[in-house]
Amino acid sequence: MSDFDRVLERRNTDSLKYDFAAARGMPEGLIPLWVADMDFSAPEPVREALSRAVSHGIFGYTMPRADYYDTVTEWFARRYGYAFRREHIVTTPGIVFALAMAVRAFTGEGDGVLIQRPVYYPFTEVISDNKRRIINSPLILNAAGRYETDFDDFERQIVENDVRLFLLCSPHNPIGRVWSAAELERVGDICARHGCVVVSDEIHCDFTYPGAKHTMFPSIKEGFAKNCVLCTAPSKSFNLAGLQISNIVISNSTLRRAFKAEIAKTGYSQPSLPGVVACKAAYGSGGAWLDELKSYIHGNLNLLRDFLRERIPQIKLIEPEGTYLIWLDMREIVKNAADARRLIVEKAGLWLDDGTMFGSEGEGFQRINIACPRSVLREALENLAAAVNCFIK
Ligand SMILES: Cc1ncc(COP(=O)(O)O)c(C=O)c1O
Repeated sequence: MSDFDRVLERRNTDSLKYDFAAARGMPEGLIPLWVADMDFSAPEPVREALSRAVSHGIFGYTMPRADYYDTVTEWFARRYGYAFRREHIVTTPGIVFALAMAVRAFTGEGDGVLIQRPVYYPFTEVISDNKRRIINSPLILNAAGRYETDFDDFERQIVENDVRLFLLCSPHNPIGRVWSAAELERVGDICARHGCVVVSDEIHCDFTYPGAKHTMFPSIKEGFAKNCVLCTAPSKSFNLAGLQISNIVISNSTLRRAFKAEIAKTGYSQPSLPGVVACKAAYGSGGAWLDELKSYIHGNLNLLRDFLRERIPQIKLIEPEGTYLIWLDMREIVKNAADARRLIVEKAGLWLDDGTMFGSEGEGFQRINIACPRSVLREALENLAAAVNCFIK
């Protein structure tokens, strides 16, 4: 039995995933496989470092020291061959916060910001909440069940709407693509041609399945780094989302200054002490744990794929190359969000993310989070199979 098999009680721990069903319009008692955190405890070196900080008992202000920055840069150099300078890192309390700061720093009210739907819903929110225009170049689901960029449309949207900012999701949540270097290069060349800054959200970069290779966008060409705001965080990889720390890498000093100025306006200054402690321990000593975790989650993906094929063939898995958030095509059995709720919530007792949250392109799809013990996933799938059987009768 793997450590990841242990089912840990998360109810009554102030967990967003488990403790706020009623507040979010859901019945109690569902199996929650929605928001993107994992049902696994963080790696031991992280828990030990946090315990030491807690037992010290003084929780004053902090700021990252040189060893923090070195640990972060070494992680990306070692794992992805991308070396950046420590002075280029700006810490923020999260990636969504950073996306919002980028939108505010690099565009004005009424400007268009490009996204590729279906996409993680805060991409839409940070644009519309800041009174910018959403310019969407939808991803195309090809006949082989793989999402692709429509490069002609992508460029047309930039030109016709005078777009100066693109929010790239790489790997892409929820469709699970790990973009190839060639795809990223094409997108980056188009953006560079039209003076469009690329904000590359690479929060899921550490989750790739065998055969997929993540390429960091700014590593592709010298010019790309100068035109990019790279968003990284240890939060998905090591299950630290509640500690609120991200590392944003901006090697272009003009962009970095504008980004920092926008942050200053919010009144935010230093990161939290637990965030700094955990990030350093995770990148410094969490690598082996992460590799084991990835292979466990790959096992979950195999279970999901086999189960659907054998027991619920009406539901099609969109084969992911990365991320633990899996996109399920249920169009054969559900026609809209109300239909889906009846099946998923009321009959199967599951809490997933409805596809329409990611844009109208997601109608008939559901996103399921498989970063849970295998027994939980199996129970969820059994529930779903039983529900589908009575739903389609
Ligand atoms: C693509 C992507 N970006 C950002 C986030 C959230 O980042 P944060 O919690 O640091 O704001 C998520 C969480 O699911 C995500 O999938």
